[in-house]
Amino acid sequence: MTARRQQPASGEAQSADSHAGLDNLTLARKEGWRSFVTTPARSQPEPLSAKELRRLGEGALAGYNKQRRIWHANLGPLKTPQLTELHEDLWDIVDSNVQDGDKAKGAIAIDAFPGLGKTTAVLAFAKKFHLREIAEEGEFTEDGNERWPVCRVGLTGNTGMKDFNRAMLEYFAHPGRTSGTTAQFGHRALDCMLSCAVRLLIVDDLHFLRWRATSGVEISNHFKYIANEFPVTLMFIGVGLAERGLFSEGDSYANAVLAQTGRRTTPLDMRPFTVDTETGRREWRQMLLALEQRLVLADKNLGMLADALSDYLFARSTGHIGSLMTLINRGCQRAVRTGAERLDEELLNGVKNDAASEKARQELEAALQARRITTRPRAKTR
Ligand SMILES: Nc1ncnc2c1ncn2[C@@H]1O[C@H](COP(=O)(O)OP(=O)(O)OP(=O)(O)O)[C@@H](O)[C@H]1O
Ligand SMILES: [Mg+2]
Repeated sequence: MTARRQQPASGEAQSADSHAGLDNLTLARKEGWRSFVTTPARSQPEPLSAKELRRLGEGALAGYNKQRRIWHANLGPLKTPQLTELHEDLWDIVDSNVQDGDKAKGAIAIDAFPGLGKTTAVLAFAKKFHLREIAEEGEFTEDGNERWPVCRVGLTGNTGMKDFNRAMLEYFAHPGRTSGTTAQFGHRALDCMLSCAVRLLIVDDLHFLRWRATSGVEISNHFKYIANEFPVTLMFIGVGLAERGLFSEGDSYANAVLAQTGRRTTPLDMRPFTVDTETGRREWRQMLLALEQRLVLADKNLGMLADALSDYLFARSTGHIGSLMTLINRGCQRAVRTGAERLDEELLNGVKNDAASEKARQELEAALQARRITTRPRAKTR
């Protein structure tokens, strides 16, 4: 068993920017997962006024700007209402899944459009879950193996069942991950999960699974096998899972098999921000207020995002957190580089955003300008 009492990954003492190099690929291995979980949050660079900036020497200014570059590129995760709601649902389901091993556990499918923060929210949840399990149960299992409460598998283009099983073994760096059949890989993965007391199996980007017309049943059966045999809560993340028939019900044989997965899987959603209700507008504003507090720009003022740019930012992001964060990140980089030190429409107009939000932007801007819609709540609370 490879996970038996290894040295802690890369030393627990982390340098100031040990986040660097943490990519999705790193998370494919348990050691990468541990550094993701144990690396302390970055601290916000100290805010300096325009005058203080001018007083900095060249070297000090370059250092300060580098700090801000990294900081602005990694803002988040913000506690958005979407993230908080999802976490509540996840705790309900995961904590209710502690029944004995012979009962199949309820699975979860987080099914929503790209860029709404599914991965971000799930990783934040899994991090809390990992830390709670370790705090409660200890770093090692009764048998002396390392405890790994979470196993995360990210799928890539056109993954088949065998690759999926192999990816689970990769996470544990199992020596038997190079050769074997699908079933053998499956058994080895089960072995790892039992030894390491895995409780949560996250399968990100499930839509990448090879989904031939007939293999819906095969996939469904495979996950049923995992749900039955592995003592884990399965958490699927993907785009358009319902349309792909992960949990459709019907009368044909195929549908009946799929329905079995459907009966055990709770679909959860993540929604974009919307501004057609007062509650929605208030949520948008609260999020912008939280976001502007995190910006480290010398000329920023209270309400820079939440008041002055509320409509503009909504039009450019269409309420998608991913597009918003890209725009703000790029805007801040430009504001630092050019010395503007604040965000306004003029500066942001020069910043490019993703194709989908640029496409939706014009229509929304026209509606906002014609005052057919607004993003501002009636009562402004700070
Ligand atoms: N709560 C949040 N606070 C700050 N930034 C966030 C938050 N949620 C998402 N983001 C940002 O939005 C971007 C997209 O998020 P994420 O990758 O989690 O979306 P996704 O729904 O998993 O998308 P995909 O379907 O493409 O995988 C990321 O760059 C992330 O930094
Ligand atoms: Mg994702």
